[in-house]
Amino acid sequence: MELPFFLSYLMAAAALEVKTSPSPVVGLVHNPVVLHCNFTVQESVRKEDMALKWAVKTVSGEERAVFLFDGNHTAGYRHGPLVNVELLPHGIASLTLSDVTLRDEGIYTCTVLVTPQYGNGKIQLKVRAQPAVLLSPQSLLAAAEGEKTFTCNVHDFYPQAINISWMVRKQGSLRETPLSSDICTGAPSSRGRDGLFAVLSRVTQMVSEADNGSLYICEVQHESLGKPLRRNTTLLVTIPKSYHRDTGFIVGVATSCIILTGLCSIFLTIFYQTRLAKAEPQVSSIIQPDLIPINEKIRLMCNINGFRPKTIQVKWYRRNPHRMVLASDHAKEDAALCEAGEDVTGMAKQPLEANGRFYSISSCLSYTPTIKDDRAEFECNIQHSTLKNPIRRTTIIHVTARPASHYIFSSPQVPIQGDKLILICVVEKFYPKDITLDWFRNGQPVEEVTQFGPFPCESDFYSIWSQTEFILTRDDEGAIYTCRIKHSSFGNVEELSYEINLQGTPPEVLWITPDPTVPVAGEELRLSCRINNFSPSVIRVNWFQDGKPLHVGVCHSVSVVGANGLHSMWSLLRVTPAQGAGNTVFTCKVEHDALSGCVERVYTLQMPG
Ligand SMILES: *[C@@H]1O[C@H](CO)[C@@H](O)[C@H](O)[C@H]1NC(C)=O
Ligand SMILES: *[C@@H]1O[C@H](CO)[C@@H](O)[C@H](O)[C@H]1NC(C)=O
Ligand SMILES: *[C@@H]1O[C@H](CO)[C@@H](O)[C@H](O)[C@H]1NC(C)=O
Ligand SMILES: *[C@@H]1O[C@H](CO)[C@@H](O)[C@H](O)[C@H]1NC(C)=O
Ligand SMILES: *[C@@H]1O[C@H](CO)[C@@H](O)[C@H](O)[C@H]1NC(C)=O
Repeated sequence: MELPFFLSYLMAAAALEVKTSPSPVVGLVHNPVVLHCNFTVQESVRKEDMALKWAVKTVSGEERAVFLFDGNHTAGYRHGPLVNVELLPHGIASLTLSDVTLRDEGIYTCTVLVTPQYGNGKIQLKVRAQPAVLLSPQSLLAAAEGEKTFTCNVHDFYPQAINISWMVRKQGSLRETPLSSDICTGAPSSRGRDGLFAVLSRVTQMVSEADNGSLYICEVQHESLGKPLRRNTTLLVTIPKSYHRDTGFIVGVATSCIILTGLCSIFLTIFYQTRLAKAEPQVSSIIQPDLIPINEKIRLMCNINGFRPKTIQVKWYRRNPHRMVLASDHAKEDAALCEAGEDVTGMAKQPLEANGRFYSISSCLSYTPTIKDDRAEFECNIQHSTLKNPIRRTTIIHVTARPASHYIFSSPQVPIQGDKLILICVVEKFYPKDITLDWFRNGQPVEEVTQFGPFPCESDFYSIWSQTEFILTRDDEGAIYTCRIKHSSFGNVEELSYEINLQGTPPEVLWITPDPTVPVAGEELRLSCRINNFSPSVIRVNWFQDGKPLHVGVCHSVSVVGANGLHSMWSLLRVTPAQGAGNTVFTCKVEHDALSGCVERVYTLQMPG
């Protein structure tokens, strides 16, 4: 038998039953995943009488083929082994995706044709990434009494939703107590081009001798995890000798009191008033995130510990970055405003906590900075009856904006051996201005580079172009050019790559689609053959009827260039089948320089009745 055909919708009664994995299937980033697609077959069927197509509709709505088998040829559009066609006669058309990435997410369709039956099944693939968690300080912490900060660095997870909680277990106790205050958790953000998220959570605690040996636990809950992921660290407190002075003093005084009762009550009253009744607040410096992206909520934290009495006033102020020029009329007013700052205390949460004999407050200010907040100053201002002047802590924030776009652009779009190729690395609309662009060829630095910018873009932002050009030789085939972008908004560097392809890209030839799907004798039947994503644009498409070339009724579209620089086209054959023309075989044959041979798609005419 010839190559199989892809139709027979008319044989609805003989629909093929396709069984797929229960949807959704969850795949983990960097791991393999198998999407099952099984069907029932008669024993005698050969793989030459079968056809298979796996396609995916991605989250962005794009549809693309993943794997095609037409009874003879296979075509894979993703790295890895994909489908073992030898198993098709056993009713197994399962798809294996090795090294899953976020780009693989989508709805997969498995379409099977076993002449003349036809069936399909759909499976949703969800891709997840498990967080890695690092709690620091990790090893035993030798610390004096006072304020301690623990940081839980949770990274490389997907999707964004995550819960981070903190617990403490006192030494000798089996009970874990959740910590609810003094916690500052950022908003998960995505830094790398792999689309994975990262977030930091910090807890700041006043530790005393009583906390010696306590275990601090950071617990992470995420959709990708079967059970919460936990990390812990043990606290060891070392007490400087002088600390015992006050208590020793009280005990000493109290003992003497029993002897000198009269004098003592007066002395103790004075002592209480001066030493115990009041305690000055200890104020931390302002804790802020390492990276402050615009339009994302950040938290600034100020810890105020160990004070008495509990009446205290904590205020937050925001001051605009100092302007270079002040309009003379408003100069005074502005200067005054600038000095006081805007009161933003309303954006802060600050629960008061009793901590033994003392009080503490962890004041957490939530703020969503815009580009205008770059170099704005934030002040945490504390007034307390023990203080003559308020305690002020200030910090200046530096905001960043990730480039709105960054890509490599080539001219000409399709490289030609012997001609000049210009590669331009474009980074648009970022902030701040400082940026470094470097080119590498197969990992080696490229010296001959011309840079334009950074130049202002949309008033507050910047853009930059970096270009390298050269004459293409045969040696350039397969060379990889990388543009490395170093910018504070990435937290790290980002790389864009361009692979030189002088051999072109072979076309993806889809199966022939008939219109109408059920041919009618004496009526025009249009067979169309779609040919996608090829380069260069030169292509030959021919039609055959039972092996004989056809010239009449053939029409080719012009080829159009897609965003990827590749060409696509279609070819249409119009025929009018006569009564009894069943089993006529139409072939669409595609020849292209990037193909080792040619690609053929076959349609066998089936006339009902
Ligand atoms: C399909 O077949 C494979 C191999 O025999 C089996 O492991 C899998 O569970 C089957 N899946 C379904 C959905 O029947
Ligand atoms: C399979 O393809 C090869 C080369 O592409 C061709 O020579 C051969 O005839 C084809 N076999 C069938 C059964 O169509
Ligand atoms: C986070 O906690 C909330 C409330 O307990 C819960 O509804 C949500 O499912 C949790 N999210 C994750 C990712 O565990
Ligand atoms: C603390 O961490 C260690 C090492 O990871 C682990 O063996 C231990 O079970 C953890 N303890 C608790 C209470 O989670
Ligand atoms: C804390 O515990 C460690 C070991 O359990 C001990 O060596 C140290 O002396 C303790 N510190 C205080 C202040 O008791």
